[in-house]
Amino acid sequence: MGKIIVGKVSDIPSGKMQKVSIDGRDILVANIDGVFYACDDTCTHAGASLSEGALEGGVITCGWHGAKFNCMSGKLEKFPAKIRDLKSYRTVIESDNVFVEV
Ligand code: FES
Repeated sequence: MGKIIVGKVSDIPSGKMQKVSIDGRDILVANIDGVFYACDDTCTHAGASLSEGALEGGVITCGWHGAKFNCMSGKLEKFPAKIRDLKSYRTVIESDNVFVEV
């Protein structure tokens, strides 16, 4: 497991999310009220980039067909079909930098 720097705290304002690439994997990093969370960016339904969807109250809504995932746990919250949860990752803040453990 490695700790990878993904940017400065100020790069992702509260209520926003951003896609980062780590070792060829697309990961979404979100700032929820000053706390950072990370999960896979690729929707488990049909592969949309979730960072292009919407983020509201800690819930990511996929821009393609509306699947809702909890961005803190990666768990699927709402979708008519059973699809996989997202893998979530631990984040660490050090010296104003955001790291994701992968
Ligand atoms: S690709 Fe995300 S809901 Fe279909």
